[in-house]
Amino acid sequence: MQLSSLLVTLFITLLPQALAETINYNFNIVNANLAPDGFSRSTVVVNGQFPGSLISANKGDTVNVLVQNNLTDPTMRRSTSIHWHGLFQARNAHNDGPAFVTQCPIAPNHTYTYGLNLGNQTGTYWYHSHLSSQYLDGLRGPIVNPEDPNLGLYDVDDESTLIILGDWFHTLAPELEAQYKLATNTASVEELPQSGTINGVGRTSTDPQPARPTFTVNSGQRYRYRIINTSAIARFTFQIQGHSLTIIEVDGVATAPLAVDNLIIHPGQRYSVVVQANQPVDNYWIRAPMTARAVPPVPPNWATDSNNVNAVLHYVGAAGAEPTSEIPAISGTPLVESNLVPLTDPAAPGSPFPGGVDKVFNLTFKTGEDPVTGHGWRVNDVQYIPPTTPTLLKILSGAHDPSDFGTNENTLIINRGDTVEVNIFGPRDHPWHLHGHTFSVVKGASGVTNYVNPPRRDVTPSNGNGGITIRFTADNPGPWVLHCHIDMHFEAGLAVVFAEAPTEVVSGPDSVDPGDDWDALCPIYNALPLDEQ
Ligand code: C2O
Repeated sequence: MQLSSLLVTLFITLLPQALAETINYNFNIVNANLAPDGFSRSTVVVNGQFPGSLISANKGDTVNVLVQNNLTDPTMRRSTSIHWHGLFQARNAHNDGPAFVTQCPIAPNHTYTYGLNLGNQTGTYWYHSHLSSQYLDGLRGPIVNPEDPNLGLYDVDDESTLIILGDWFHTLAPELEAQYKLATNTASVEELPQSGTINGVGRTSTDPQPARPTFTVNSGQRYRYRIINTSAIARFTFQIQGHSLTIIEVDGVATAPLAVDNLIIHPGQRYSVVVQANQPVDNYWIRAPMTARAVPPVPPNWATDSNNVNAVLHYVGAAGAEPTSEIPAISGTPLVESNLVPLTDPAAPGSPFPGGVDKVFNLTFKTGEDPVTGHGWRVNDVQYIPPTTPTLLKILSGAHDPSDFGTNENTLIINRGDTVEVNIFGPRDHPWHLHGHTFSVVKGASGVTNYVNPPRRDVTPSNGNGGITIRFTADNPGPWVLHCHIDMHFEAGLAVVFAEAPTEVVSGPDSVDPGDDWDALCPIYNALPLDEQ
């Protein structure tokens, strides 16, 4: 080999490492009085903002997020714990964030630095509090890796093209949670949001009306909008008047471009869509009507105009701030999830028939009464109740057998390398989310079965008693929660925890080594008085 070509080869091999950066973020977690929908209330937010600031990083980058817990408001949780939704966290389970699964919460007046590594993940993610129902109080924000195989399909992709949707509540989360858990029938008494927000701005029918968010475009340009549903309960139907949406990414997974007119986005899900500014210069409605319930009737605490979740697509040169046309109904071709095809490695793990994997789990979930645990949600008749010692700490201390975990920890063991199939049976429209992985939606809510090139993502809705089937490969040792992303349901027990390759978590090439700051979290938290927890 000639020296010059050797140098080129060397340069190319070293390039990814050479470009990998360490990026530091400061998350000052504070209480602030905010009025996203015109109604002022105390919140729990990152750096005083709702939604929280953007984390942006590339493949291989190390992101250090210094969390400083400065929460003081005694009417909400004062400790905190942050989950980085969608990041695999290989050998990094201790930084995944769900309280009592992978860590003890961070006490007030304490700090903890989450070290995150994006590995090969590109696309759109988000972070949120994963302590009790704290994210309802505001602690949610976006994460983006802008690198993308579909780069040639759009011209603009920056902070101005983030569309962060989220429901918003006027009642503080601890009170909502208490009301929900006291209700005798948790299925029929949902605690419903007062408004739906777009980039932190919403409207109710009674409070002052903030200006609608505006997304400005130049005629002829192509925009990549990253739509994130950060809701605690609500899903949105998204449409832009007069413009089609070409989906190119689903929950961080690049997909073959798929054009639709509208899409439903469930809590936790993300879509990137390419929108061409190819219509006459004007203002157009961006619509995201909100649904917080599978089945009518609308309950009495629904104070919302759920149709009033709108923004403006503004062409440079158009007069006025809002469209003069009436707000149109949702129309045209909806997204059917089973039409989404991953761009690379689309096959589901395992063999192409039901049960064609190393390990099958059948999970049936329902709500109801239990003589021991009371009201709540259950998976296979067990209500998930978080342990006081985090699952990861138990695993690091040698727990590896189902009997090493309490019944209410609903912990399922899987082995290194297992192909895993999970069949989930229960009422429709519960968005199931798995930590530490994406999964193939072999059979989703549309009922289509596909082993060859099914959608791959990290949140998908249930489908009534026909059931859904997801598959993944156990290639990421750690304790990973699988839970309903309707937050109150999770709080009321709708979860299981996969203890994935527990012995490999402890030692060997995939082991997890949390370090002293993580070790200190539990003793500090456990010593807190109740009102600081
Ligand atoms: Cu958005 Cu348990 O996660």
